[in-house]
Amino acid sequence: MKITLERTSAEQAARGAALIVPVLEGEKEARFGATPLVESGEVAGKSGELALLHSPAGAAAARVLLAGAGKAARFDAEELRKLVASAVRFLKKKKVQAAAVLLEADRAGAEFVAAAVEGALLGDFEPDQHKTDNDKRSLDAFTVVCPNGAAELDAAVERGRILAESQNFTRALANEPANLLTPLKMAAAARQMAQEQGLDCEVLEVGELQRLGMGALLGVAQGSAEPPVLIVLRYRPLRPASMAHLGLVGKGVTFDTGGISIKPSEGMEKMKYDMCGGAAMIGAMRAIAQLKPPLAVTAFIPCVENMPGSRAQRPGDIVTSMSGKTVEILNTDAEGRLILVDAIAYARKQGCTDLVDAATLTGAIVVALGHIHTGLFANSDKMRDRVLHAAGAEGERMWPMPLDEDYKEGLKTPFADIANIGSRWGGAITAAIFLKEFVEDVPWVHLDIAGTAYLDDAKPNMAKGPTGVAVRTLVRLATEWMD
Ligand code: BES
Ligand code: ZN
Ligand code: ZN
Repeated sequence: MKITLERTSAEQAARGAALIVPVLEGEKEARFGATPLVESGEVAGKSGELALLHSPAGAAAARVLLAGAGKAARFDAEELRKLVASAVRFLKKKKVQAAAVLLEADRAGAEFVAAAVEGALLGDFEPDQHKTDNDKRSLDAFTVVCPNGAAELDAAVERGRILAESQNFTRALANEPANLLTPLKMAAAARQMAQEQGLDCEVLEVGELQRLGMGALLGVAQGSAEPPVLIVLRYRPLRPASMAHLGLVGKGVTFDTGGISIKPSEGMEKMKYDMCGGAAMIGAMRAIAQLKPPLAVTAFIPCVENMPGSRAQRPGDIVTSMSGKTVEILNTDAEGRLILVDAIAYARKQGCTDLVDAATLTGAIVVALGHIHTGLFANSDKMRDRVLHAAGAEGERMWPMPLDEDYKEGLKTPFADIANIGSRWGGAITAAIFLKEFVEDVPWVHLDIAGTAYLDDAKPNMAKGPTGVAVRTLVRLATEWMD
C-alpha cells in the first residue's frame, strides 16, 4: 500500500479516492452537503457508524465516508486507529482501491497521524497467505489529509507505517500453520527479517542447547521429530543513552498438542497460534531496527513443537533447567513456562537488565480477563508502570494481576525444587509465579496474551486470526525508554 501525506484543503483532497471524514457525536454540521444527514439523526457520530456518500457536493473525492468518532472528550489516537481500520475494511468490500482520511485542527497531531496510518494498514491486513483464488482485496493507496499539516508529520507517517507493517509481519508469521512453520522455519523467518533490517541473528540449535543445560526446554521438545531452537535477535544502538539492556522473551511453541497430557481435539487447531509471543518479539525487533532507539535490545525466542511422540516427556518426569533448578513435570501441557524459564536464564546470562516476556501461556487468563485485556504480571512497580504507560499510549489494553508469594505454595513438590503446575484455581497467576522464580531480582513484566493474541471472529476493524498484540507496546517501551 502506497502511503502519502497531503496538506491540501478538505475540498481539494483525495481526488478520485474515497475520503473518510470523522464525525463526532453532537456535531451540528457536516461537510460536503451531509448536514441534512446529521440533522435527521441518520448520522449521529456514534463510534462505529458509517455512511457512504457518492459524488459529494464540493469535494474532489469521488466518495465521502462519514465515520462516527464518538464523544469528543473520548476521541483519542486509538479511537482514530479503529475508525480508520473499520472504514478501510468497509471500503475494501466495495472494491475501493484508494482511500484517504481527513484530519483537521487538533486531530492532526503526530500521534493521530501515526494512528491513522496504522489503522489503514492493520485494517487492510487479511490472513489469506494460503488462499489461491483471485478474490483478494487490498487497498492500493492511502492518504492522510492534514490541511496545513506541520513538517514533523512526515516522520509520524513513517513511524505509523513501520509499526503497523511490523505488527502485520507478526500477524502473518503467527498465521502460518504448524506444518509450514516448524521451529527451524521460524528461525529462518527471523534470520531473513534480521538480514533485511540489519539486525544480528543467532540461532542456537539442539547441541548448543544441551551444552547450556537447557533441560526444561529440551524436555518439551523431545516428543517431536522437529528439533527445537533458541532464536536470538540483537539490536545495538550506535550511541546508547542508557546503561539498560532490555530483553524480550517470547513463547514460540509452533504447535501445542499438550504432549502426553493431550488436549481435547475440539479447537486444537488454534494451538498453531501458540507462538504468538515469539512472533510478537520478532515483529517488535523489526520495528526497533528501523526506529533505532538509543537502547540495547535483545529478543530471545525459544521455539519447540509440543508433541506426544514416543520420546515425549511423561508426567512425573524431573528435568534440570539451565538455572540449575529441578522441575517436576506434573502436566506436559504446561510447556510454555518450561521453555520460557530456560530462555530467561539465558537472557540473564547475556546481561539483560530488564525483561519483558509475552506468551499465550494459560487458558486461565482467558477465564479471568476474556479477550479484551492482556494479563500483566510484574515483580517491579517501576517496570509495571513503564509497560502500562506504553500500552496505554498504544491503545493496547493490559490489566495488572497479583503476584503474591502466597501463590507459590501451590508449586511445592517433595520430589523437585518446583512443580510445573499448581492447583486448578488462579492458574494464570501460578504460571507467572513459576516464571518469577527463575527471573529472580531482574525487573520483569510477564504478558499473558492467551486471550488477546488472536480473534476467533472478525471485528469491524480487524480480520479473524492473529492480532499482533504487544508489538506496538514493546516498540514504544524501547523507543521511549528513560532511566
Ligand atoms: N498454550 C496453552 C494456553 C492456551 C490456552 C493458549 C488457550 C490459548 C488458548 C498452554 O500451553 C496450556 O496448555 N496451558 C494449560 C496449563 C495447565 C495445564 C496448567 C492451560 O491453560 O490449560
Ligand atoms: Zn500447553
Ligand atoms: Zn502452550
